[in-house]
Amino acid sequence: MPEKTHDIRPGQSIELLKALHILTRDGKMNQDSRRKLKQVYHLFQFIEPLLKDVQQRGAVTLVDHGAGKSYLGFILYDLFFKEQPDAAKSGSRIYGIETREELVRSSEELAKRLGFAGMSFLNLSVADSIASDKLPKTVDIVTALHACNTATDDAIRFALEKKARHIVVVPCCQAEVAAVLRKNKAKALADPLAEIWRHPLHTREFGSQITNVLRCLQLEAHGYQVSVTELVGWEHSMKNELIIAQYKNLPRRKPAERLTEMLERIGLQELKDRFFLPQAAQE
Ligand SMILES: C[S@@+](CC[C@H](N)C(=O)[O-])C[C@H]1O[C@@H](n2cnc3c(N)ncnc32)[C@H](O)[C@@H]1O
Repeated sequence: MPEKTHDIRPGQSIELLKALHILTRDGKMNQDSRRKLKQVYHLFQFIEPLLKDVQQRGAVTLVDHGAGKSYLGFILYDLFFKEQPDAAKSGSRIYGIETREELVRSSEELAKRLGFAGMSFLNLSVADSIASDKLPKTVDIVTALHACNTATDDAIRFALEKKARHIVVVPCCQAEVAAVLRKNKAKALADPLAEIWRHPLHTREFGSQITNVLRCLQLEAHGYQVSVTELVGWEHSMKNELIIAQYKNLPRRKPAERLTEMLERIGLQELKDRFFLPQAAQE
């Protein structure tokens, strides 16, 4: 029997918590796992209101990109989807997208063992998932937690194409922008502002930060309201920037202009397809 603790919520799957190593095999919790569970709840607290918002309108479709062991998907299913009345028939579904086949297989096995019928795992890259007929034409929520390098950008493209109502990303390191900054540095140094990324370490750090700034502007240029916060204490990575976007059909012109100006000023024009704008904002 698991240790009696207030940390575990009623109805939560003990088997899942063991599979995620939040509980030991004999159902015990140590200091380390208590911290891990706290972090999971911390992230859930950001996503639960979005799930409730979509649920008001009906079934919820959530796609998690770069899912890894599908830690996030399983927790969301256990804490939210499973509790929906008639969960299996509601049409709600979580999809995990992952390039490592062995992780897709192990997630499939775990979902089967737990009876989590509303979970699917697809062995696809984020980029290929955009056109895949295994996914619905529109989705409600897109998440990407530490999806490597440009996989976060592909997840944003996926979300925009699928008209997602909510987008939640915690980006990983992105090397592409820093590489272009590095390549164009000599020319850029005519502008004193380029001192910000002259030193190689600064090129990497500024590259990483400006990538997220450009992502936020891109989302705003597509009519989303964006908030940026910190995912405090998330243990897997030093990268803790949490970007949450909600589609509000907001005016697009200003953020689109800003994005274009930023790309030009910093010498990143060649990345304008990466941070693509909606057709209307370009006219
Ligand atoms: C750092 S792990 C994060 C896993 C999980 N989201 C988490 O936070 O625990 C990144 C995962 O993304 C997967 N990945 C990387 N690039 C990808 C791509 N382009 N398409 C799909 N999966 C990708 C990797 O195989 C890896 O499992």
